[in-house]
Amino acid sequence: MSSALFRLSLTREKSHHLAVMALVKIDASIEPKTEWETQYIQKMKSSKRQQNFLAGRLAGKNAIQDLFHQPIAVDIQKGIFEQPILFSQTPYPIGVSISHSNTLAGAIAFEEGHPMGLDLHEIAPKNTKTILTQTTHFEQKVIEAYPSPDLMATFVWTAKEALSKILRCGLMTSFKLLELSKPREQENTFETEFTHFPQYQATSWVLANQHVATIVYPKKSILSVDANAIMASDLFEGS
Ligand SMILES: CC(C)(COP(=O)(O)OP(=O)(O)OC[C@H]1O[C@@H](n2cnc3c(N)ncnc32)[C@H](O)[C@@H]1OP(=O)(O)O)[C@@H](O)C(=O)NCCC(=O)NCCS
Repeated sequence: MSSALFRLSLTREKSHHLAVMALVKIDASIEPKTEWETQYIQKMKSSKRQQNFLAGRLAGKNAIQDLFHQPIAVDIQKGIFEQPILFSQTPYPIGVSISHSNTLAGAIAFEEGHPMGLDLHEIAPKNTKTILTQTTHFEQKVIEAYPSPDLMATFVWTAKEALSKILRCGLMTSFKLLELSKPREQENTFETEFTHFPQYQATSWVLANQHVATIVYPKKSILSVDANAIMASDLFEGS
């Protein structure tokens, strides 16, 4: 099974925080690891949904274990809004955010006191039309003006979904409320802020021209991560 881990360092004026992003290629050989997972997947109608779910759980556990450099028993259950709820004895409180596409699952483990959200999405022209229905006039203009509207639409969508995970609202709140502000392309990344949530920002990477991975994190934190390692990971080959 293919997987990769990326350590993130987040520096603020008076504090420093760590997080780990784990990516796992979705594969039918991933088994449930806890009683709760075994029970939960029985309710799922398709084996594809089960595989995605288990790959996301595995990514979450990989990220947590790498954060603490030790094996830690972890059960990631679900809250009433479908949000991941962690049962684990970690040295300090942490949270986890999970995402999956058709081929790739990912999770970020972060200090609970420094909230973060993750979203992965395939860059697929067939999604662009749907995404445009969930965007504001400003975002539509940004998407349509970019040389690759499908890529920009995926970036916009993942930033909104990752923010919705931090807020725990998902699509229960209008995605128009999660409008991007000042989206910009940097050397290796896309970055943005949010009109109505100025305490957060997002950074996105394009993985092998196939996926966008976006992390949302507190605005005044300076993110440091080996972006080249993320983009060069052979995990995405053939995905
Ligand atoms: C949170 C949400 C926005 C993400 O949904 P998604 O498209 O399934 O995307 P992802 O695979 O990236 O995320 C799923 C994970 O988000 C997490 N999640 C779900 N609801 C959440 C919430 N309220 N708060 C925080 N995290 C949440 C879960 O961990 C879930 O994975 P799991 O079921 O394996 O535990 C979802 O609630 C939703 O409403 N999705 C609709 C998506 C859609 O309409 N897409 C069409 C555009 S192309």
